Amino acid sequence: MDDTRGRITRNGIRIYEDADFAGMRKAGEYAARILDDVAALVVPGATTAALDDFIRAEIERHGVTSATIGYKGYQHASCISVNHVVCHGIPGPKVLSDGDILNIDVTVIVDGWFGDSSRMYVAGNLPRKAERLIQVTHDALMVGIEAVRPGATFGDIGHAIQTYVEANRMSVVRDFCGHGLGRVFHAPPNVLHYGRAGTGAVLEEGMFFTIEPMVNLGRPETKVLADDWTAVTRDKSLSAQFEHSVGVTADGCEIFTLSPAGKFHPTY
Ligand code: MF3
Ligand code: CO
Ligand code: CO
Repeated sequence: MDDTRGRITRNGIRIYEDADFAGMRKAGEYAARILDDVAALVVPGATTAALDDFIRAEIERHGVTSATIGYKGYQHASCISVNHVVCHGIPGPKVLSDGDILNIDVTVIVDGWFGDSSRMYVAGNLPRKAERLIQVTHDALMVGIEAVRPGATFGDIGHAIQTYVEANRMSVVRDFCGHGLGRVFHAPPNVLHYGRAGTGAVLEEGMFFTIEPMVNLGRPETKVLADDWTAVTRDKSLSAQFEHSVGVTADGCEIFTLSPAGKFHPTY
């Protein structure tokens, strides 16, 4: 894989060049556009396999590549995580019911750059408790993104997210984290969504990574089902997640996976 750009910090985190932001911007926009366009299909009665079929066809139609098909044996163009599924839900024959909430996570490769994003959707009418969970999870991602600037630490990001979520009496999942990306899908560092301010590696301009907090209405513990992918909340409580791919700039960050249609939040 062509991953020899820029330099690597002593924490193993690659520093990309100014010109590399354009590659990430383009990859991120493809991922975001596909997440925009699948929204119309999220209705009661639809199967998660039908949503994945659409995503796969869109990826093909755009002439880009799915990062997940073939990744560690994974066979699908998306992960679709419904209700108490925390992440890595496998699309299949499951039929969506009124009031189901779901995360759809898509990663595409465009000219060698990885664009990774996920959002929440609702089939039919959004239940009150789910609405609050989705709002807090969305805002937790944004609070994390606001902490991104050169000189801050990864612990500052996690601390901002955890503090926000727990102030709203919800819990942050510890078992999965964000990740560096760029010309590869997963690279250092692990981006934790909890932690202490001032700890962890220092952010530098040119770092590319995801922030993708998973938030539960109940306890934070998860377990992985026998399919070796599907992660669920141990207490069966509802879970939500939002993910952006970002790059650190001189004075903050650029979000690569912004929705072209302004549809990132499900109640747009
Ligand atoms: N897109 C997921 C992430 O945010 C990874 C999915 S890997 C898969 O890192 F194989 F489950 F698709
Ligand atoms: Co990711
Ligand atoms: Co993802």
